[in-house]
Amino acid sequence: MSDGASDGDMLKLKPLHPLFGAEIAGLDLRNPLDDATFNAVLDAFNTHSVLLFRNQELSDKQHVDFSRRFGELEETTFSIAAPNRYIYRLANVDDDGNVLEMDAVKRLFLEVNGRWHTDSSFRANPALGSILSGKEVPSNEGDTCFASMRVAYEAMSEGRRKSLEGMRGVHNYAYSLSLFDTSGVTQEEMDSVPPVEHPIVRMHPPTGKKSLYVSGHIERIVGMPVEEGRLFVKELIGWCTRPEYVYTHRWQQHDLLMWDNRCVLHRASSVPAKQKRIMHRTTIAGQGPVE
Ligand code: SIN
Repeated sequence: MSDGASDGDMLKLKPLHPLFGAEIAGLDLRNPLDDATFNAVLDAFNTHSVLLFRNQELSDKQHVDFSRRFGELEETTFSIAAPNRYIYRLANVDDDGNVLEMDAVKRLFLEVNGRWHTDSSFRANPALGSILSGKEVPSNEGDTCFASMRVAYEAMSEGRRKSLEGMRGVHNYAYSLSLFDTSGVTQEEMDSVPPVEHPIVRMHPPTGKKSLYVSGHIERIVGMPVEEGRLFVKELIGWCTRPEYVYTHRWQQHDLLMWDNRCVLHRASSVPAKQKRIMHRTTIAGQGPVE
């Protein structure tokens, strides 16, 4: 916790799920928060892992300015439409606003996000958090699902936790992209993020709590035959995402949702075929190596 008032004292919090996540009401994020309120939001983020703010109609600049309070931002690397170099635009529409066909290459990034993952786990310095703004949201589909890897770790037996000590996963974005049609991505882009190793269990610096650290971007487990490693990761992700552990967010227009990539898995539940879905995301860069 940071100095000063605790999040409970300062903010109106409502749980999103019995195990993690909170909605914060009563803030207008278009304008800078004073330091005490910002610190309370930061404490809430570190404690609850997923935060929802409703009715935040932010410009990209306001979105970026709010995000920057949490740390440096990642720049968008891939040739996905990016109205601002810190904004990752996730949209199922073309430049004229028409919903893209199912096989359109632009849908690749939306489809990759449909697998359970934690953002930028394929980087040597993986993302701390992400902040997603619902610009145009479908009425009854296109939910985003979340699962806490901290809760999942804490629910494991002591023996299981011990068996994971020292294990490492190799995260590779080219691997997760390659599960889909990558014909619209250049080789240079595919090669731009080389594979990296991270531990399967990591510590969450602000709270000192341990959590699993698994992701759909893991291509193999160090020291295990490739297929065995993939099954192992699938089983661990399955453990984290048992239905009773999952918070499913049904979007409302101008929701702003932020999550802690150090200890939360997420996925987009579907890419709507007919309704528009336009989301803008900022990604808060990690503050150093995972261990
Ligand atoms: C993401 O995976 O970062 C975005 C999820 C979503 O579009 O629901």
